[in-house]
Amino acid sequence: MTETPAPTGAFPFADVDEARTRFADAGYLTDDRLATTVYLQSRLDKPVLLEGPAGVGKTQLAASLAEVTGRRLLRLQCYEGQDESKALYEWDYGKQLLYTQILREKIGQLIEDAPDLHEAVERIAKQDSVFFSDRFLAPRPLLEAISSDEPVVLLIDEVDRADEALEAVLLELLSEFQISIPEVGTVVARHLPYVVLTSNNTRDLSAALKRRCLHLFLEYPSAERELEILRSKDTGLPDALAARLVEVVRDLRELELRKAPSISETIDWARTLAVLGVKELNAEVLSATLNVVVKYERDLTKAAAALPRILDPNAEVPDHLHGHGHGHGHGHGHTHSAESGRPSAPSSDDGDVDGREVRRNKDEPGRHDKAYYGKEGGSGGPKRVPSGQGKKSFAAGRARKRPV
Ligand SMILES: Nc1ncnc2c1ncn2[C@@H]1O[C@H](COP(=O)(O)OP(=O)(O)OP(=O)(O)O)[C@@H](O)[C@H]1O
Ligand SMILES: [Mg+2]
Repeated sequence: MTETPAPTGAFPFADVDEARTRFADAGYLTDDRLATTVYLQSRLDKPVLLEGPAGVGKTQLAASLAEVTGRRLLRLQCYEGQDESKALYEWDYGKQLLYTQILREKIGQLIEDAPDLHEAVERIAKQDSVFFSDRFLAPRPLLEAISSDEPVVLLIDEVDRADEALEAVLLELLSEFQISIPEVGTVVARHLPYVVLTSNNTRDLSAALKRRCLHLFLEYPSAERELEILRSKDTGLPDALAARLVEVVRDLRELELRKAPSISETIDWARTLAVLGVKELNAEVLSATLNVVVKYERDLTKAAAALPRILDPNAEVPDHLHGHGHGHGHGHGHTHSAESGRPSAPSSDDGDVDGREVRRNKDEPGRHDKAYYGKEGGSGGPKRVPSGQGKKSFAAGRARKRPV
């Protein structure tokens, strides 16, 4: 998409403006804060942590960063119960087995004159390093990013879904940019990757992780920027209608829906209306296509009821359309902050808005010690690693089975 050549020098952007322009060329529109954060990342070699609701461009930022810097994108998608072997590396068991089958005769010769079982085991054990070597290592995204010949962009997506044990592994990686493999030794990064972490806020991340990153909360964009994004996507919707649509979506975001519509849904809605050849945004056509932006049935009812008033604050709305349980008027009389439009906290029967309810439930007081949230200086990483996890050692200086 971009005509800009990949940078050859050490720094990809001369200044913040260049970062903004290069991202725009690649179809990603930043605001000042975002452009500055990306520029600083490239100068300070610090990971960026993006938090915010779904669909505001967190993942896309990493993809666009890879595009504008000409780097390969490596992605670690985090999920609950994820084992660190899926994030760092695994031993290729199948290959090890295949080799032992092929080498069966050779292995037999090694132990044929062993006087007893103990001696035979000793002799086999001496060959460990053959089978636990680079040849049999299957790197997963984190090790791949560290050991890559070329500098890469490493996206650690939805880190809030990972368990704290994996978060602890990440902490070590992000501060040292190296991984210790007990059987092989320490792998130190050849080139520092640009690391982008994203979080949907389903739980609070540790202060230790936040401290290591340039932290940015991505909100819904201002009306102006959202319209610019719409224009850049060539949705086919006439500009005047697109501008109106952005206003409607912003009003819908005020409705305390279970899932507020995001930028990607505004884009989808604009494309839908363009395909339908809509010439005017009225309650009828918007209601008929509301399922493009609102994904829960209760939200649909609430949004459909609010649409007439959103389109015309003086509209007469039949009584039966009132009373859907949200505590303010339908789309009139509320204010938008310049870059916000963020819905307020849900009432108890309103479901989860952007994972807040989940986070609240998970984050019971006392679940972590105080240092976890940084209240007592927060030195070091999370101390607690649930038993059965964190089996491997990943930082330099830890005890290794076989030092190199
Ligand atoms: N600043 C932007 N410029 C251009 N397009 C954008 C921008 N922000 C979001 N988009 C569009 O919105 C889509 C969704 O963005 P993305 O998938 O990055 O959201 P997300 O924040 O990662 O959401 P989730 O939390 O659901 O993963 C992108 O594919 C892109 O088309
Ligand atoms: Mg994402």
